[in-house]
Amino acid sequence: MNPNEIKVFCPATIANISCGFDVLGVALDSVGDEMVIRKVDEKGIRITKLEGQDLPMQTLQNVAGVAGLAFLEASSYEGGFEIEIYKKIKAGSGIGSSAASSTGAVWAMNELLGKPFTRLELVKFAMEGERLASGVAHADNVAPALFGGFTLVRSYDPLDVVSIPSPSELCAAVIHPQIEVKTSDSRKILKTNITLADGIKQWGNVGGLVAGLFTADYDLIGRSLVDHIVEPIRSILIPGFDDVKETAIETGALGCGISGSGPSIFTFCKGEETAQKVGEAMKEVYQNIGIDYDIHVSRVNMEGIRKI
Ligand code: HSE
Repeated sequence: MNPNEIKVFCPATIANISCGFDVLGVALDSVGDEMVIRKVDEKGIRITKLEGQDLPMQTLQNVAGVAGLAFLEASSYEGGFEIEIYKKIKAGSGIGSSAASSTGAVWAMNELLGKPFTRLELVKFAMEGERLASGVAHADNVAPALFGGFTLVRSYDPLDVVSIPSPSELCAAVIHPQIEVKTSDSRKILKTNITLADGIKQWGNVGGLVAGLFTADYDLIGRSLVDHIVEPIRSILIPGFDDVKETAIETGALGCGISGSGPSIFTFCKGEETAQKVGEAMKEVYQNIGIDYDIHVSRVNMEGIRKI
């Protein structure tokens, strides 16, 4: 194996998790991109291969390129890196496509240089990729991709990321209707102010969800998967959302919401068998409406990005 090269798996992620807009996220196990990163003498970052999606390869227009440049700028390393990206996550799907590329680049570079940076510092570099993708440097996808499991961005300034345990039987079923919703567009439609009444409901649910994850209280997790602020606005962009949600809950999901900025819809279930059933039931909704879909049933990825 060439010591100047590393191949990595970069997991898909569900962000927001209903009540935790821009602060909560979780890494998935069964879907993710692959990337190869190579140390080279030539300074700078070059994307030398990009397969699977039609995305820009110019360094400054590619999230991996921009995150990589943020890493290089902070590093004392004098050379550069080449990046190959093999996309398995569709861009604009709502399961952290840009986060996978941004985090994959900076995690791999850090490994190749002997880990000069902490994971929290890598989160900051990867957030620059998110800034390029959505106009806002949010960390709720990049943090779980780098830390694994569930993460809470307790604070952005200063950046403070808290790892949250995942109950062993928790499983996600995610359906991606084949329409594209750009994060930048679905952020623009949000209101910038909330009422105190909505705030009270929302932070009650965030606290409940975190408590449920810590104590493996599946019912509490389910009761807390409620979003009074963002979901009512964004769900209008997702055809069939209300039907999918109702069907998923009736079939046994603990809860259901928009994954990231959509259009993917996520559910959490107790056990893989229930998650498979819920996935099948959600499929039927889109079959009836006549919209194509991808489905992912996945356990929580506790490790985050890994070498493959
Ligand atoms: N918190 C971000 C948003 C996640 O909802 O806009 C995007 O994946």
